[in-house]
Amino acid sequence: MDKELLSKTAAAMVAKGKGILAADESSGTCEKRFKSVGVECTEENRRAYRGLLFGTPGVEQYVSGVILFDETARQKAADGTPFPQYLAGKGIIPGIKVDKGTVELALSPGEKVTDGLDGLAKRMAEYFQMGARFAKWRAVIAIGEGIPTHACLYANAHALARYAAICQEASIVPVIEPEVLLDGDHTAERSEEVHEATLRATYAALAAYNVSVEHLILKTSMVVSGKDCPRQAGVDEVAERTVRVLKRTVPAAQPGIVFLSGGQSDEAATAHLNAMAAMKGLPWPLSFSYSRALQNQALKTWRGQAGNVGAAQKAFFHRAHMNGLAAQGKWRAELEKQAA
Ligand code: 13P
Repeated sequence: MDKELLSKTAAAMVAKGKGILAADESSGTCEKRFKSVGVECTEENRRAYRGLLFGTPGVEQYVSGVILFDETARQKAADGTPFPQYLAGKGIIPGIKVDKGTVELALSPGEKVTDGLDGLAKRMAEYFQMGARFAKWRAVIAIGEGIPTHACLYANAHALARYAAICQEASIVPVIEPEVLLDGDHTAERSEEVHEATLRATYAALAAYNVSVEHLILKTSMVVSGKDCPRQAGVDEVAERTVRVLKRTVPAAQPGIVFLSGGQSDEAATAHLNAMAAMKGLPWPLSFSYSRALQNQALKTWRGQAGNVGAAQKAFFHRAHMNGLAAQGKWRAELEKQAA
């Protein structure tokens, strides 16, 4: 465990005005996204699309790191450089998704637990050799009638903690991602309660497994109203509730917190981050680690056509820029209109 390297990596991941691009969609998720814009989900198309994102001129001003899927980490940019080295050459830290996705949690209908601990230490050593300096593991917590259960929070927290310990031993910064889903008709208040219970369970497990909070990044969902809730919390309410929960549960010693977008609109994800980052006196830097909210427009613009690459890169650059500003509390809605 190289603590110096871990500290350096974690600090660079949440450097001022920078955040993380999540480009680690599994082939199944990629298929869904590509289908929505009429692109066939072949290995070559996945490579071309990731190459488009990573090759966006100047995006390294706002993107500190990229989370890769295993397949992408083994693919090459158009110039023949393996993607991890290609990114590192631009000053972007390569990261890797190491979980194997979710499965039904036995005896807990409607709940999931994340797989992937078997053989993880061995895989982690290989990823380090390949250039990865941080990793990601996503746990999914659903809100509904009688859920989440204690069993679900406990099982996921332990998996996250075991994963984080394995990462740190390999000198790879763990990004721990307990995602509370926004599906359902629950209120923002209920979401806040579930976030609090989830994070408490997660940090208790991290402590139990001797994980160093100085050397990890939390990737969390925001406290928003359920998608189907008739009352949708506004930007300030989301920001207040989210920060309140984080202050209650996340140690000040931690180097940073990043957010996932989780199905929020592009602009909502930016506005929420901006409102939180503008708050004074927070103990940790806040930033983004979005997949959809960074890529939606770029993917729609690309549509698998080589002739659209430049326009798609422009769309991606714009979202990265807006979120880079939001991470400093310097974004304004007018900036979106000016760009349009
Ligand atoms: P979204 O921003 O699309 O929620 O994706 C982030 C992510 O990495 C989910 O694991």
